[in-house]
Amino acid sequence: MKIAVVGTGYVGLVTGTCFAETGNHVVCVDNNADKVSQMKRGEVPIYEPHLDLIFERNIKQGRLIFTTNLEEGIRDAKIIFLALPTPPDENGSADLKHVLEVAEQLGKLITDYKIIVNKSTVPVGTAEKVRNVVAKNCKTEFDVVSNPEFLREGFAVDDFMKPDRVVVGTNSEKAKKLMTELYAPFVRQGNPIYYMDERSAELTKYAANAFLAMKITFMNEMANLCERTGANIDSIRIGIGSDDRIGKRFLFAGIGYGGSCFPKDVSALNKIAEEYKYDFNVLKSVMKVNEEQKRSIVSKVKNHFQNNLKGKRIALWGLAFKPDTDDIREAPSLYIIEELLKQGAIVSTFDPAAITNVKKIFGDKIVYGKDEYEILKDADALIIATEWSLFRTPEFEKMKSQMKGKVIFDGRNLYDLNQMRELGFYYNSIGRETISI
Ligand SMILES: NC(=O)c1ccc[n+]([C@@H]2O[C@H](COP(=O)([O-])OP(=O)(O)OC[C@H]3O[C@@H](n4cnc5c(N)ncnc54)[C@H](O)[C@@H]3O)[C@@H](O)[C@H]2O)c1
Repeated sequence: MKIAVVGTGYVGLVTGTCFAETGNHVVCVDNNADKVSQMKRGEVPIYEPHLDLIFERNIKQGRLIFTTNLEEGIRDAKIIFLALPTPPDENGSADLKHVLEVAEQLGKLITDYKIIVNKSTVPVGTAEKVRNVVAKNCKTEFDVVSNPEFLREGFAVDDFMKPDRVVVGTNSEKAKKLMTELYAPFVRQGNPIYYMDERSAELTKYAANAFLAMKITFMNEMANLCERTGANIDSIRIGIGSDDRIGKRFLFAGIGYGGSCFPKDVSALNKIAEEYKYDFNVLKSVMKVNEEQKRSIVSKVKNHFQNNLKGKRIALWGLAFKPDTDDIREAPSLYIIEELLKQGAIVSTFDPAAITNVKKIFGDKIVYGKDEYEILKDADALIIATEWSLFRTPEFEKMKSQMKGKVIFDGRNLYDLNQMRELGFYYNSIGRETISI
């Protein structure tokens, strides 16, 4: 099948490449000329494990091409995917500017039947809006389908190739047939395609992200209670996770959720509720707790140093909002750095993939290390903000020999408490006993 994907970010590029991998001919369209040039040179513009291999293969086999020109990109396509940004606007709603802008152009460009599939995360009623905007200028038949994406950065290729489920919102039998054909190779193991109306599909995506954000937030609040009562959040996690109704995943306490999706989607869902005059109280609490949680580790560091971080050397391991990505959107690390700098601390950082992106924000206000040990030299304390595998079994003796203070604030609960006690670190983690030297 001939396909166009408009917007080649984390979702669009993975979508385009994976559809090419199953034999489709895909044109990826992006209005960022630098990005398109990079892709034309065969370079993947994002860090996403396993993407490079299939990206390269499909370019070589002529099934994956790139352009900045929307008209050229969609000319032969039967299906046009929109994988455009829907960032929060100033009041927290999803900004549909990019989606509607492209819809407006599509209306003028389409000359034969096409399916416009929205993969972006969008408020309920967007498919209708897109349909109206396209119809204003379009003289030919077309369908608009809602097909929200559930891939996770860091596992995006695997998630796309073997999705837990595919959600397709449409009432058009013609669109349904083509979508079924397109997704057939991805659901061979019996994983379902759920067909529903567009509005339900749009809300399904928000419901999934808001529910997961709520699960994390609940555990963060339990962790805060553990710190006050002397209980251990890891024991509680294990104790409740074996109950099928709760499940083992998304129960890890930490310094709050970040990323390009959870924060903006929880906020956007809350705005949708407001628009429909519904007070979604749980969501409001989730947002409030998460904001506090992101900064909580800096309060702990401040307390430890008697409220005086001026001139203190603080090392930070992990900048990405989670491991295996270079994405730093809404990453807790950014809040931590900001707070530390405000307090006059000297901040040195290391991350295996996200340094380039962080440099664009903080420039030379902080130090960037070549590896995780270099930045520990003379450090008064280490903060761990992202659970990269690399940080799970470090050379503790080397760390001790480099650091001035043997002090670790672990926002991701990477280490065993007894081990930290034996090694002689001051070790403060989330929802667990603090090990003092
Ligand atoms: N990142 C994720 O993990 C994830 C997962 C599921 C759903 N989503 C949703 O998918 C959508 C896209 O997210 P993303 O993370 O891939 O975004 P992104 O910012 O990484 O990528 C968006 C791309 O669209 C391009 N673009 C912007 N305006 C354009 C235009 N007018 N014409 C052509 N290209 C244009 C940008 O240059 C960029 O390359 C969002 O709605 C997001 O909420 C994201």
